[in-house]
Amino acid sequence: MPAIPPDVRGAVITGWGTALPPKVISNHDLEQTIDTSHDWIVDRTGIHQRHVGGGTVELSVQSGRAALEMSGIDPLSIDALILATTTPDRTVPGSAPVVQHELGMSCGAYDVNAACSGFVYALVQAHGMIAMGAKKVLVIGTDTLARITDWTDRNTAILFADGSAAVVLEAVEGHGQLLGWDLDSDGSAERFLYADIGGFIQMDGKEVFRRAVRIMVDSATKSMTHAGVTADDIALVVPHQANIRIIQASLDRLGMPLDRAVTVLHRTGNTSSASIPLALAEALDHGRVKTGDLVLLVGFGAGMTAASAILRWGGTVAGGEEPAVLA
Ligand code: ACO
Repeated sequence: MPAIPPDVRGAVITGWGTALPPKVISNHDLEQTIDTSHDWIVDRTGIHQRHVGGGTVELSVQSGRAALEMSGIDPLSIDALILATTTPDRTVPGSAPVVQHELGMSCGAYDVNAACSGFVYALVQAHGMIAMGAKKVLVIGTDTLARITDWTDRNTAILFADGSAAVVLEAVEGHGQLLGWDLDSDGSAERFLYADIGGFIQMDGKEVFRRAVRIMVDSATKSMTHAGVTADDIALVVPHQANIRIIQASLDRLGMPLDRAVTVLHRTGNTSSASIPLALAEALDHGRVKTGDLVLLVGFGAGMTAASAILRWGGTVAGGEEPAVLA
C-alpha cells in the first residue's frame, strides 16, 4: 500500500470498551475433558484460561455501548458501524445491523470477515470513511469461536475463545492517529485454517505458526516503511493474541523486546477479531500509552490474512465540540 497522502482528513480514537462472557474455562478444566495439561498449554501457548459464552450481537452491544459511553457521544451521531467478525450469529443478515439497532444508532452497518486480522481491516476502512467525509465511526471486533470449536479436539480447544472490544473513531482536522497501514491476504493458505459452514475449526497448527511469524513481520515492516518509522520508534506493539511464542518470534525478528508487546492471551485465549482491540484497551486502561507514542497493531488470521497499522497516540476531535483529548 502507498503511504497516506499528506492532506487526508484523519481520525482519533475517543472511546473504547470491552466485553468478555462471564464463564471461564481454565486449563485445569480442559484437563478433565481432553488429553492435555495446564503446563503444556502454558508452555506452548501462554494461555491460562479463556472466556466462553454469549452471542456475537450480545457481546458487540456490550463493548460498543461501553465505547460510546466513554466517548460521550450520542449514538445517533455515529455515521457508520463496522463489525469485524468471523462468527456472525446468523449467515443472513450480518450481525452489524442488529447491533446498530440495539445501540440506538441510525447509520450504515456491516460485517467484515478477515478472521483474526479483521479488527485492523475494519479500523483502516473506518479511516477511509472519515477521509471521505464521515465524522464518527464505531468499530467493533467480536468473535464467538467457542461455537465453532470442537471441544474434544485438543489441537484447537486449548486456543479459542469468545470476546469483544470496540473503539469510537472521530474525525480531526488534518492528520489523525493513523500514520501507516498494510492489509494482506494469501488464499493459497486457506487449507491450513478453516471451518466449513456448520463445521468446526480445522487447523494445521505448525504450518499456521510458521506462516504467522513470517506474515506478521512482513506486514509490520510494510506499515513502518509507509509511516516512515523504524522498530526503535515503536513504543508499544499490540499483536494478535494467538500464542505467546508467535508474538515472541515475531518481535525477535522485528528487533523488539517482548516487554514492548501488550498481552492478554493468558486470560482471554485467542478471541480472533476481538484480540487486538482487547489488548489495546488493556494497554490504554493501564496507562501504557502516552500522548505521542507510536503504537503498532499487527495481526494474522485464517485466509490467511495479515494486517497492521501504526497509530500516533493523542489528538483532539474536529470542531472541538467534544473535548476528546487523549492522553
Ligand atoms: N496437550 C498436550 N499435548 C499436546 C497437545 C495438547 N493440547 N497438542 C499436541 N500435543 C503433543 C503432540 O502430540 C506432540 O507430542 P509428540 O512430541 O509426542 O509427538 C507434542 O505435543 C508437540 O505437538 P505439536 O503439534 O508439535 O505442538 P506445537 O508446539 O506445534 O504447538 C500449537 C501446537 C499450540 C497449536 C501451535 O502449533 C500453534 O499455536 N500454532 C498456531 C495456531 C494459531 O495461532 N491458530 C490461530 C490462528 S488465528 C485465526 O484466524 C483463528
